[in-house]
Amino acid sequence: MTDIQELLLSRIRDVADYPEPGVMFKDITPLLADPAAFTALTDALAEIAADTGATKIVGLEARGFILGAPVAVRAGLGFIPVRKAGKLPGATLRQAYDLEYGSAEIEVHAEDLTAGDRVLIVDDVLATGGTAEAAIHLIQRAGAQVSGLAVLMELGFLGARARLAPTLAGAPLEALLQV
Ligand code: PRP
Repeated sequence: MTDIQELLLSRIRDVADYPEPGVMFKDITPLLADPAAFTALTDALAEIAADTGATKIVGLEARGFILGAPVAVRAGLGFIPVRKAGKLPGATLRQAYDLEYGSAEIEVHAEDLTAGDRVLIVDDVLATGGTAEAAIHLIQRAGAQVSGLAVLMELGFLGARARLAPTLAGAPLEALLQV
């Protein structure tokens, strides 16, 4: 493990039985409160943006906003929020996805993404991959290309990497930590 990975991991707090019994929640608030760790995380994600030739950063509500916005500033790129449905005032594209129980929808302003854009998606956690998969579909439906998907943590045992491979179609999935 690299020094940066050790620093990041040391600032993630495990919270047992949250938000429900049997779940181990990964709390990133200690990392956000530590300027050295937050800067190291931002720099690492901005490097992925540069390496993948991204022209825009998409952040996934809500923790993907906290991580994605400084990455966009650091990389000198625009930041595009992908929000839970009903929060964006303009004309949107909307994508439904399945949850463990029921379903959810996310949206993006249609005018924010166009053909020729190469988009890096940023989020904190990759779990089942359902949210990221829906975001990739949104970006592709807007006519833009996905340059990659970058997350702080991948919960590898849930199999998102295999699930997303066909949708990512060769674009890289970069996880700074495997949990
Ligand atoms: C969490 C996390 C990812 C998503 C990962 O967000 O921040 O966006 O779930 O899960 P998946 O890979 O199984 O789709 P959540 O929906 O809890 O929203 P929040 O950031 O607003 O708490």
